[in-house]
Amino acid sequence: MMNTPEDDCYSFITEWYDPFASLVRRYKITYYTEDSSVEMFDIKAHKMFLKRNKVDNLSMRDLYIGSIINICSRALHIVDYADDYTRRKFSSRKEKTFAMIKPECVNKVGQILDIITQKGFMVSKLKMCQLSRTEVFNFYEEHKGKPFLDDLVNYISSGPVIAMELMGQNAVQTWRALMGPTDPSVARKEAPNSIRARFGTDKTQNACHGADSQGSAARELEFFFSSKGPSRQNTAKYTNCTCCVIKPHAVLDGVAGKILSAIIEAGFEISAMQMVNMEQANAEEFYEVYKGVIQEYYAMVKELTHGPCIALEIRSEDAPTKFRDMAGPADPEIARHLRPRTLRALYGKDKIQNAIHCTDLPEDGLLEVEYFFKILDR
Ligand code: RTP
Ligand code: MG
Repeated sequence: MMNTPEDDCYSFITEWYDPFASLVRRYKITYYTEDSSVEMFDIKAHKMFLKRNKVDNLSMRDLYIGSIINICSRALHIVDYADDYTRRKFSSRKEKTFAMIKPECVNKVGQILDIITQKGFMVSKLKMCQLSRTEVFNFYEEHKGKPFLDDLVNYISSGPVIAMELMGQNAVQTWRALMGPTDPSVARKEAPNSIRARFGTDKTQNACHGADSQGSAARELEFFFSSKGPSRQNTAKYTNCTCCVIKPHAVLDGVAGKILSAIIEAGFEISAMQMVNMEQANAEEFYEVYKGVIQEYYAMVKELTHGPCIALEIRSEDAPTKFRDMAGPADPEIARHLRPRTLRALYGKDKIQNAIHCTDLPEDGLLEVEYFFKILDR
């Protein structure tokens, strides 16, 4: 993270899709570091939309091109810098790259996310996908004609992969260094701490992929996370399942990897996974059953929209009941007393920031999974 003076301000162009007018509205937002306040200027109407106002849960780490920030219950998409000063300050800071966990290492996702987070990367997009052979061919078009392509295509289409957008300083090079040499046996000699050295099997099953230039990163990110074209198929199965949502505070605190490892170690199958930026309306809808029932409803909605969360489909026999047991009591304080080894005891802070949401009633498991993987992932 770059050092920022106490009293600096940065401006960005943001877009918000107004569902009532069916059009995209553009706002210039200015962020004041001194007190984390924001003002919003309606670009088309040419007038102030929101006077300088303190916004909770907004910090420097949320400000980058491609980020979605919530102000006044609007999910604003940051699309550009609004002035040269901001551009200069920010563009040297962060770069994006595309990273992919290959099929044999999908069950190591927790450990790999830990490595990524410890390196100072921010994961800004993540999705477990199943690619067809044709899709893999298109993805690896640069290797057309190479002798290893057939094996590679068979392998990558053989099971789910996890696609990610990573943000960080010098992201393309940093991620490639973290992966290590292409061949895991070479990696074990030359870079024994690298991901391929630790988790790779052979030249084909080599744990992960990384874009090799900023140009490839842009192309590969567009392939997986296109805003215009078709989005890649998620892997939800909708049987014997329950829903878990790793809450924004846990994602931002960098403990998502630990939570995923714990779930996998406990014997659950994570059969679908996707990072989601919840809009206010979606969060309200998702938590609808708690409205008027739980006092913390509005605070819960606010937590769910304050940053990216990670939605999971979790499978096992009696998944909702068994997973709820592992999640522990909703209040982490109580959990720490009564069930100290549960996820909420270990990673929760308070009743609102309690690390994860998990389906309450067995009959809702499928519905909640469908909400994330059928309704929100269209
Ligand atoms: P990646 O693209 O996956 O990040 O890997 P890379 O740049 O280190 O390697 P690249 O030359 O681009 O090759 C892409 C993937 O093809 C498989 N491969 N197999 N059997 C072989 O000789 C061979 N050579 C390459 C690897 O899985 C490699 O990651
Ligand atoms: Mg390559």
